[in-house]
Amino acid sequence: MTALYRVAVVPGDGIGGEVVDAAREVLDALFAGSASAEPLIKWTEFDWGSQYYAQHGRMMPEDGLEQLRGFDALFFGAVGWPSVPDHISLWGLRLAICQGFDQWANVRPVTFLPGVPSPLRDADSRALDWIVIRENSEGEYAGIGGRNFTGRDGAGEVAVQSSLFTERGCERIIRYAFEVARSRPRRHLTSVTKSNAQQYGMVMWDEIFARVAKEYPDVIADSCLVDAMAARFVLQPEKLDVVVASNLNADILSDLGSALAGSLGLAASANFNPERRTPSMFEPVHGSAPDIAGTGVANPIGAISSAALMLDHLGEHELGDRVRAAVAATTRDRVLTPDIGGNATTHDVVLAVIERLHEA
Ligand code: NAI
Ligand code: MG
Repeated sequence: MTALYRVAVVPGDGIGGEVVDAAREVLDALFAGSASAEPLIKWTEFDWGSQYYAQHGRMMPEDGLEQLRGFDALFFGAVGWPSVPDHISLWGLRLAICQGFDQWANVRPVTFLPGVPSPLRDADSRALDWIVIRENSEGEYAGIGGRNFTGRDGAGEVAVQSSLFTERGCERIIRYAFEVARSRPRRHLTSVTKSNAQQYGMVMWDEIFARVAKEYPDVIADSCLVDAMAARFVLQPEKLDVVVASNLNADILSDLGSALAGSLGLAASANFNPERRTPSMFEPVHGSAPDIAGTGVANPIGAISSAALMLDHLGEHELGDRVRAAVAATTRDRVLTPDIGGNATTHDVVLAVIERLHEA
């Protein structure tokens, strides 16, 4: 008898709801037809986002975090719509949850699926598979700063946007990344900073990385500047295994990684509170894609693969592997949405994945 998990769902805006529904359908199908009458997951949906904002003047209720706290995991779509400034929607919902729950480790695998064309030359014949680990609680997204002096003559306004690097924050994400690297066959971790130009926070990060590396003699550790790392992603991706970086740098690098794998719509992510004091949150890397929202062609693979990460986190690794195998079988059979060169709809992909779940 499999356990019953309680998962809070925040579909959010645009294609967020479309891909979340797709992933839910796939997970529910894992148990359809089995002897167990119990569904694996009990979903509780929250209608927070930009429409909620239009009615209530906030992205989620004041006690939103308290409403989410008791769940086993959170499943998130995407937030952002042209009716609300992006910094308000992002800070009011996604960042509020990540920071409020101290989900300090953001894990973003870059997965090259069979049958999906990559802009990288010879991607099919090279073994490409790496993970970006993003510091998810401070750094450039600490939200520290302000704007002032609009009353000055002319273009007199001043803005300060500070980055925050704490020894504790850097050390815990670096240590986490070493543990992930240790669990993989190649045992290679690369730390990414811009410590030549950002001489305080990022030099401290480099020093902490060198110190923690001594505790992991079995892991090959190296450091790379972020601009060079962007080039390495494109030119020498076979050199990548686990990559750890600050909030902004890893955000950019993980989008680059998913584009190299074929599309932003493919990339999965997990926001972990590794101590499990609060629920962790699983979401595709992409945003709400207003340009294709409502057309039924959003690629659901990023969301479905995020749901597989959620199964791993809940202790259901075998089920996670089954979902991943079904996704790979689907792309291998060229059931692809338009962003990766096909003409399948979101729903076609869901049906194809579900069909292959039972073959896997
Ligand atoms: P986006 O990721 O929504 O879209 C970028 C491009 O990728 C678009 O052309 C879109 O059609 C395409 N795309 C994204 N996901 C796709 C999918 N699943 N299938 C097929 N194509 C896909 O990023 P954009 O346009 O910069 O931002 C749109 C809104 O989303 C903004 O309000 C932004 O703030 C928000 N956003 C929210 C995020 C979150 O909630 N985690 C992350 C990134 C952006
Ligand atoms: Mg991003």
